[in-house]
Amino acid sequence: MRHTRIIVTHYGGPDALRVVEEECPEPKIGEVRVRVLAAGVSLPDLLMREGVHPETPRVPFTPGWDLIGMVDRLGAGVSGIEPGQIVAALPIHGAYAEFVCLPQRELVPVPSGLDAAEAVSLILNYVTAYQMLHRSAKVGSGQRVLIHGAAGGVGTALLQLGRLAGLEMYGTCSSRGASAVSDLGGIPIDYQDQDFVKEIQRLAGEGVDVVFDSIGGTHIWRSRKALRPGGRVVAYGLTSSLRGGRLASGRSGGRHRYRAILIFGLYIAGGWLLPGRKRVVPYSIQTLKRLKPALFRQDLMALFELLQQQKIKPLIARRFPLAEARHAQELLGNGGVTGKIVLVRNASSLESGAA
Ligand SMILES: NC(=O)c1ccc[n+]([C@@H]2O[C@H](COP(=O)([O-])OP(=O)(O)OC[C@H]3O[C@@H](n4cnc5c(N)ncnc54)[C@H](OP(=O)(O)O)[C@@H]3O)[C@@H](O)[C@H]2O)c1
Repeated sequence: MRHTRIIVTHYGGPDALRVVEEECPEPKIGEVRVRVLAAGVSLPDLLMREGVHPETPRVPFTPGWDLIGMVDRLGAGVSGIEPGQIVAALPIHGAYAEFVCLPQRELVPVPSGLDAAEAVSLILNYVTAYQMLHRSAKVGSGQRVLIHGAAGGVGTALLQLGRLAGLEMYGTCSSRGASAVSDLGGIPIDYQDQDFVKEIQRLAGEGVDVVFDSIGGTHIWRSRKALRPGGRVVAYGLTSSLRGGRLASGRSGGRHRYRAILIFGLYIAGGWLLPGRKRVVPYSIQTLKRLKPALFRQDLMALFELLQQQKIKPLIARRFPLAEARHAQELLGNGGVTGKIVLVRNASSLESGAA
């Protein structure tokens, strides 16, 4: 049997993405072959295509951090799972494919009846948001938080989960995302027109308890200025590395992969050394998952339950068929996307709610 997958042929722009058709992969011992129903498209995919994300594999590779799929075939030694079951996974790369083989331990069961595109949004974006809120920042009801990139994939997840936690929320976004941010309970701050530090000082007096900074670089330092004494910045992204979906430095490839991490390190150290008891703490979903895989599983299952109970509702910006992955990445890179872009196996049946 043949299948389609997307590969990144070289580090660079959207033209680095190719559609290839080849023999379906066969599951090895301990592996499960999964038929992908939905794969998330996220900024980390673009950072990996440009070759600057710390997790970037060697080219050629198949992008795609997260997927919802149906168990298709079991490798030798696999038990306790049946063909037809719906599962979730965070393979970090590999999800832009019709079929993928993964170790059984990577698969998390998905409750029946969920929409695959909504369910896939929970894996990278909502687990990131949930763990930053409840494990890194340990937020409490009534606290004030500032969310950067509030109309984006992780940003809208932070707003929905922050509202459930009873937070007072401010969110930076462009004018295109302002109404989505207020609909989700945040007070929008236009990052293109306003100085967010001054706005926070005007709106929240001495500052906020927590800033979630997805922008990275020197922006982290400005975020620190928006904190009240004793507050913390949770730094988790590299959005400032990209401009119009391409690398801001114009130099794709692995050489610059560790520069951003070094800058993170300096700010974290600065947070400890400077007065004001304002800390900068890093968050990385992949690091926490490697160190504590049970927490990833537990948090994802808690989020599936919230989705089932309709306490959260991921915003799906667009659904594309797999073969249009390049277009999907271009759209995300151009900005102004509210919520999550998803690659789906069968757009029409998923639109009607069947997983
Ligand atoms: N550490 C982790 O474990 C982890 C996990 C997941 C994601 N991430 C990181 O999280 C970030 C967001 O990812 P995503 O997939 O949610 O991206 P996304 O959906 O594209 O959202 C990014 C948002 O940021 C906004 N934005 C751009 N520049 C901004 C600025 N200077 N100030 C405020 N907002 C700005 C964009 O608004 P406009 O387009 O309207 O300008 C967009 O809404 C990325 O850096 C990604 O690498 C980290």
